[in-house]
Amino acid sequence: MRIIVVGNGGREHALAWKLTQSAPVDRVYCIPGNGGTATLAKCENAALSAEDFEGIAAFAKAHQVNLAVVGPEVPLALGITDVLTRHGIAVFGPTKAGAQIEASKAWAKALMEAASVPTAKAQSFTDAEAAVRYIQEEGAPIVIKADGLAAGKGVTVAMTEAEAIAAVNAAFQGKFGEAGDRVLIEEYLTGQEVSVLALTDGITIRALVPAQDHKRIGEGDTGPNTGGMGVYAPLPLITNALMSRIQLEVLEPVMEELRSRQIDYRGVLYAGLMITPEGEPKVIEFNCRFGDPETQAILPLLDTPLETLLMACAEQKLKEVGPIAWKPGVSACVVAAAGGYPDRYEKGHPITGLEAAAQLDTVVFHAGTAFRDGQVVTDGGRVLAVNALGGDFDRAFAKAYAAIARIHFQDCYYRHDIGYRVRGE
Ligand code: AMP
Ligand code: GLY
Repeated sequence: MRIIVVGNGGREHALAWKLTQSAPVDRVYCIPGNGGTATLAKCENAALSAEDFEGIAAFAKAHQVNLAVVGPEVPLALGITDVLTRHGIAVFGPTKAGAQIEASKAWAKALMEAASVPTAKAQSFTDAEAAVRYIQEEGAPIVIKADGLAAGKGVTVAMTEAEAIAAVNAAFQGKFGEAGDRVLIEEYLTGQEVSVLALTDGITIRALVPAQDHKRIGEGDTGPNTGGMGVYAPLPLITNALMSRIQLEVLEPVMEELRSRQIDYRGVLYAGLMITPEGEPKVIEFNCRFGDPETQAILPLLDTPLETLLMACAEQKLKEVGPIAWKPGVSACVVAAAGGYPDRYEKGHPITGLEAAAQLDTVVFHAGTAFRDGQVVTDGGRVLAVNALGGDFDRAFAKAYAAIARIHFQDCYYRHDIGYRVRGE
């Protein structure tokens, strides 16, 4: 089998790493990939843009590729799946119509309401005055969301009315470009956030082990939001009973609603859930792709061959594969970022200690790295993630932290408290 992985983050390195471990996979091409995928056995990078769909289609045909797996949301929202499918290429990832579930928060909210999926009460606005009136009626805390894709920066959790009004005004003044022409104003939820990623072929939907991300840059969940600073799986909070409810109350109704709209959704449906203090699962958002860094923590636990699952989704044969098998134990993943991230940071610093870290029975997934002149250098905000498996979270995190301490680059930053809810030491 020959597989294309579209994207250049840690998620894509994890996908390529897992795929290349299967004997039936001969070759993985990452488009454009990063320093990790450049140095992975059976894998190579192709210097094409993730948004050059015709170029990717031509590459797939020239290299007799069997499947294209799309990592990031932007190419999905721009219709990569529609283009590649027209060229007769099997794709893991929803069509442009399906990707709206992430690309428009108002669309996703309307879908949830139509499917009676539990979620925060919300209203959508296209003019500031009406939005401000609504904020004054509802009061704070309240959540303001730019409708469109804003690279994870479109959400303001406002603790005061003034903050909420400022966020609405910023959006309508163009802070997020077109993404902010419409805003969603949402009820503030409390509880624990959980990521439930599920694989679907449009009919059958099967959840992966639940994971918990740590989105804030600072220890104790403080400071600005990031793409995710560390994650662990599975999540003890999500009992089998709660997982069954999520399947029946969230995942299946969404698939049914998508089908009723003639949307053929094959790929990941990622539910960002809040588990309220009463233990109720409520959807905060959906993503149309694998999570990053959730994927780096989840895939090392997966026992069923990944290419079998992804191909079955693309070919609408997921039911035939049977239940997904998992390795015993737990997974811990800590992200190292460039100092200054998520604001300004530098690139191009050499990274050392990668082999020494991997010797501790861990996997180092590259995110913002590049391979230049025989050396791996920093090339992004979130630089890499160290993943360790263990019999329990204390042991898994001890390994991940011992390994990350061996990695050096200028201004390396990571949180020391990832997994604090499940670590006992
Ligand atoms: P998103 O970009 O949708 O992932 O939102 C970013 C973060 O904002 C989420 O991870 C939550 O921490 C927070 N958030 C979003 N919606 C709500 C809500 N309704 N109540 C409380 N926090 C929220
Ligand atoms: N880790 C959060 C995300 O992938 O959106």
